[in-house]
Amino acid sequence: MKLVERSFEREIDVAPGVVFWNYWDHEHLYVVHDNYTNAKILFEDERMAVYLLTYRLPLIRFLTSKSLNVMIQRDEHTIQVFNLGLFSVPSITTITVEQLGRDRCRIGMNYKFLLFGWRRLLGLMLPSMIETWNEKVWVEDLPLKLRRQRVLRHGFRDFHGMPQEVDERNNEDELELTLPVTRHRDSPVNMKL
Ligand SMILES: [Fe+2]
Repeated sequence: MKLVERSFEREIDVAPGVVFWNYWDHEHLYVVHDNYTNAKILFEDERMAVYLLTYRLPLIRFLTSKSLNVMIQRDEHTIQVFNLGLFSVPSITTITVEQLGRDRCRIGMNYKFLLFGWRRLLGLMLPSMIETWNEKVWVEDLPLKLRRQRVLRHGFRDFHGMPQEVDERNNEDELELTLPVTRHRDSPVNMKL
């Protein structure tokens, strides 16, 4: 088995709860990320989610395939995603979030790809593909995180909106996240089995 591993680190002016929300908000996946065309949640509770993602094949983008993903909140700073995707290559993504200030944090992103048999050959191109992919996803997610941070500080609550009175539109509390993220019962990512 050949292990391909890449790590990235970025800082952003949002609270840790906003970073975690972005990972646990499954509804944005195929609306915002150009590489995905669908997402279905098979199971979710207060620390894990099991979901199917439909993704476009690299190079042959009109063809799609599905990956099985398990996302776990390992502790208050760490998310792990276990994925079985293209060519049955298993991957493990570890996200760590370190709070630097009230609304600032450092995000560590570590990717491990486990290449068995002939898939070792993919080791030649994977590092640059991971880098391109990480940059693309970061750019696509950035406006969501910044907007969420801004509206939460203005008192926004999911399914309630902003406080009616403009001078009540202020929230100085810790921006914490409660899992699972609440969704409408008819959300398109809900899978009724
Ligand atoms: Fe995202």
